[in-house]
Amino acid sequence: MENKFSVKDAKVRNQIVLVRTDYNVPIENGEIVSDFRIRASLDTIELLRKKGAKRIILISHLGRPEGKKVKDLSLRPVALRLAELLQGVPVDFVDDVSGPDVEEAVESMKKGGVLLLENLRFYPGEEKNSEDFIREIIDSTGASVFVQDGFAVIHRAHASTSAVSKQLPVFAGLLLEKEISCLEKLLKSPKKPFMLMLGGAKVEDKSPLIDAFKDKADSICVGGKIAADGFTSSLENVYVAEDFDEDSSGNKLDCGPLSTHHFIETLKSSKTVLWNGLLGKAEDPAYATSSTIFLKTLGESPEITSVICGGDTTGFAEEQMKEHPDLKFSLLSTGGGAALEFLCGKPLPGLDVIEEKS
Ligand code: 3PG
Repeated sequence: MENKFSVKDAKVRNQIVLVRTDYNVPIENGEIVSDFRIRASLDTIELLRKKGAKRIILISHLGRPEGKKVKDLSLRPVALRLAELLQGVPVDFVDDVSGPDVEEAVESMKKGGVLLLENLRFYPGEEKNSEDFIREIIDSTGASVFVQDGFAVIHRAHASTSAVSKQLPVFAGLLLEKEISCLEKLLKSPKKPFMLMLGGAKVEDKSPLIDAFKDKADSICVGGKIAADGFTSSLENVYVAEDFDEDSSGNKLDCGPLSTHHFIETLKSSKTVLWNGLLGKAEDPAYATSSTIFLKTLGESPEITSVICGGDTTGFAEEQMKEHPDLKFSLLSTGGGAALEFLCGKPLPGLDVIEEKS
């Protein structure tokens, strides 16, 4: 991704900046279970403040409310968490995206302050990629610059990823830039040997990745439920787990020691590792052994370029890193579908408009 489209070069001094984030975070009983995506948005917000932006208006979706207001999918808890993380920065929330309440909230913002608007998907215009919908948001906030930093949603052609580019100059945020440049490197010039580690449950999600990397990766290892369900491949560089830990009913719920040993030996002889999909039913600690060993070995190998993507896999890494903060990875992607679609060479509407427009 070229620098000229970057927020780093955007003229934002004294401007009202509209920033698309992806705050689609897991929330249970009103509590945020993982604030990974919120923390990932901080660098861009801090940069905009440093560059003298007058007001920073954040927009995001949460869940799939399908154009209706759903109380449990309000972004209010995100604003509270954001305020804790952005210590000393005024952070407000308004339970609408346009109209008098938003205008009033913007008017009363302090210089360099942050305002989070309500869930974009409470309104049908967002997913319909409606220009009128995004125009109303722009008019109510007075925004003159748009920053796309919601990497995890750029595979959607929605008003806040696509139509917005017809109304405002668009720049890539720091998170988007970081994710794209790291994934781009994997596609174009990975340090070799390159290992692709796949797991998870859905073969239909993984087959496109195998197709995309069958010539680029030196080795492709397959674990997880797909391996347990009998996945096979005729490709020479594909290894499928050969033994499993089972429960008392004979369900294969984790990769066994032989397979784990093979994964680890392959990892150790690689210079780049891309990992997507858990290697067992890792939400149950009894079946998290292979995923844990793989994660720890990877996180303790700073000489390896390590990229982890997919919601379950990064969620698992996040959890483990609470207990093992020394684990380091080149990229823990915030994107699930977006990262996979990018790696499989599919068009990303939210990225295409940045490149076309800037
Ligand atoms: C995600 O969590 O993958 C993104 O926020 C996109 O959400 P969506 O699949 O509901 O569009």
